[in-house]
Amino acid sequence: MSLKLNVIIGSTRPGRAGPAVAKWAAEQAGTHGKFEVELVDLADFNLPLLDEPSHPRAQQYQHEHTKNWSASVAAADAYLFVTPEYDYFPNAALVNALQVLSREWSFKAACVLSYGGISGGLRAAQELRQLIGNLDMMAIPQTVAVPSFGKFINDDQVFAPTEPTINGLNGALDALARWASALKAARQA
Ligand SMILES: Cc1cc2nc3c(=O)[nH]c(=O)nc-3n(C[C@H](O)[C@H](O)[C@H](O)COP(=O)(O)O)c2cc1C
Repeated sequence: MSLKLNVIIGSTRPGRAGPAVAKWAAEQAGTHGKFEVELVDLADFNLPLLDEPSHPRAQQYQHEHTKNWSASVAAADAYLFVTPEYDYFPNAALVNALQVLSREWSFKAACVLSYGGISGGLRAAQELRQLIGNLDMMAIPQTVAVPSFGKFINDDQVFAPTEPTINGLNGALDALARWASALKAARQA
């Protein structure tokens, strides 16, 4: 069964580190072999704070930016959210992007990759998993946290982490593929 995975760059601020980390994650996911991978940059969608009059469950979107975001999310079977940690929390742009939609996320599998200082963004990852679960996704417990991520980004903005991080991501992708496959079958049943 073909599984589409969107690797979502959650950070949207100028000068962000998110693309370097997410690009690496998308490449890893590609070589993992279980997914058709797309690297999705949230910044490309220019989503304002929720500006749709109807509840997202109605899917009556009035704005092109919401329709574009909806199409991107709806096309995937699984998501890898690459999140920074701001004040022990996922960044507001990512939280907003999640809340702008509803049904598009439903019964899909999701993994969180966080990066930060000494904590590796783990607090943000746990908060994000709660929101993901509330949106009817399976937030798999295998999170990937990258502490002191800056040490692994070189002058060319290439992120090259150590083996435990690589192994951690591969293990998480194994679990994500199993959930994504089961949930795809459930959505089609
Ligand atoms: C508003 C703000 C809050 C931050 N809070 C945290 C934090 O709680 N924990 C942490 O490890 N790093 C924190 N940082 C540092 C980020 O880990 C670092 O800036 C990182 O580059 C953010 O990811 P980004 O560049 O992709 O946006 C914070 C950064 C910003 C801009």
